Amino acid sequence: MASPINLFFTFLTIATTFSLLIISPSTASDPDILSDFILPPNVTNPNASFFTSTSFRALLQPSNLTTFNAIKATMAEFPALNGQSVSLAALRFPSATANPPHTHPRAAELLFIVSGALEVGFVDTTNKLFTRTLRAGDMFVFPKGLVHFQYNAWEEAALAISSFGSANAGLVSLPATLFGTEIDDEVLAKGFKTDVDTVRALKAGLATKH
Ligand SMILES: *[C@@H]1O[C@H](CO)[C@@H](O)[C@H](O)[C@H]1NC(C)=O
Ligand SMILES: *[C@@H]1O[C@H](CO)[C@@H](O)[C@H](O)[C@H]1NC(C)=O
Ligand SMILES: *[C@@H]1O[C@H](CO)[C@@H](O)[C@H](O)[C@H]1NC(C)=O
Repeated sequence: MASPINLFFTFLTIATTFSLLIISPSTASDPDILSDFILPPNVTNPNASFFTSTSFRALLQPSNLTTFNAIKATMAEFPALNGQSVSLAALRFPSATANPPHTHPRAAELLFIVSGALEVGFVDTTNKLFTRTLRAGDMFVFPKGLVHFQYNAWEEAALAISSFGSANAGLVSLPATLFGTEIDDEVLAKGFKTDVDTVRALKAGLATKH
């Protein structure tokens, strides 16, 4: 019998099913854990030290960096993050340095500029480039899995803090992935519509330069 109440519940069931179907693929994330936290095998009785990292204190020291540098705080460096779906990275850019095009397969990245300025950008799956110049106090989000970069084109050094929605966002750096591995020179030459000598020059440059 199709009473208004029954129709309403039928509608509710259909709507719920649809929203689950629609939402499920986009909720792919670190697995939910069934305990408060996850301990590595060599930690049995944790205290607050286990949940503390002091690695970013290095940022407070004067630095003489000449190349782009990242201090990561992922579950590899900070085991208490395992299962908590968060991580950070401190990105330091001396003048005229870049974090080359790369992706994080498992998380979006929210970048906050602490000091200096950065040109940032990402490319979506239609190959549209979204780029912007950011200065201290600004934030930018790099959607999950998309190729992105940051570049300090200025004389002043820049510092940015990036947060990730994964304890292990992963890094695929395009130069290293493409020209720092054993992918056949012929495959790369065809892929980039160039010749093997050019591919070898790119590989050699990547192997020797920072
Ligand atoms: C546990 O092992 C890791 C990796 O070997 C090490 O870095 C860490 O200091 C160890 N923790 C303790 C409390 O021994
Ligand atoms: C906390 O645990 C660590 C590693 O097990 C130990 O070195 C440290 O002394 C402990 N701290 C306190 C306040 O108990
Ligand atoms: C930077 O400073 C540290 C110590 O403050 C020193 O060990 C290191 O050699 C310096 N690096 C460069 C490139 O000058």
